Amino acid sequence: MRVAIGADHGGYVLKQELTEFLESSGHEVVDVGAHELEPQDDYPDFAKAVAECVASQQAQRGIMICGSGVGASVAANKIKGVRGSVCHDTYSAHQGVEHDDMNVLCLGARIIGGELAREITTSFVSAKYSGEERHRRRLGKVLDMEAKLFG
Ligand code: RB5
Repeated sequence: MRVAIGADHGGYVLKQELTEFLESSGHEVVDVGAHELEPQDDYPDFAKAVAECVASQQAQRGIMICGSGVGASVAANKIKGVRGSVCHDTYSAHQGVEHDDMNVLCLGARIIGGELAREITTSFVSAKYSGEERHRRRLGKVLDMEAKLFG
């Protein structure tokens, strides 16, 4: 799977770890930055880049890391077609894909450690949208809301 990954200074070190982990697990990684640890950088710049990669289908999934995961999630969801959420447990990471077609995983590097982040990442990239009727119905309602917002 091709996965876009990004992080601000709060998530930079974890991004480097997860990039290596994803590549060693056989995934192709599109690293949108930050490409160096810059304490003054801003998470929306990288969240936008990850989200646009996913929305334009340059990547099938995205992972965006900041200090808490919150700013990453708020910003990523401003791009049409993105369904992102903070998941700091493995259940949410796979269920979010299976039920909600989540396509961007947001992580807080100040909240979770590398080992849990790797397990969450594996849950996220391994999961598939179930497409069950009730989930399609609910996703359709979300997409209607999105269409009203973005046109
Ligand atoms: C940066 O210091 C921090 O505010 C950012 O990484 C993130 O946690 C925002 O939600």
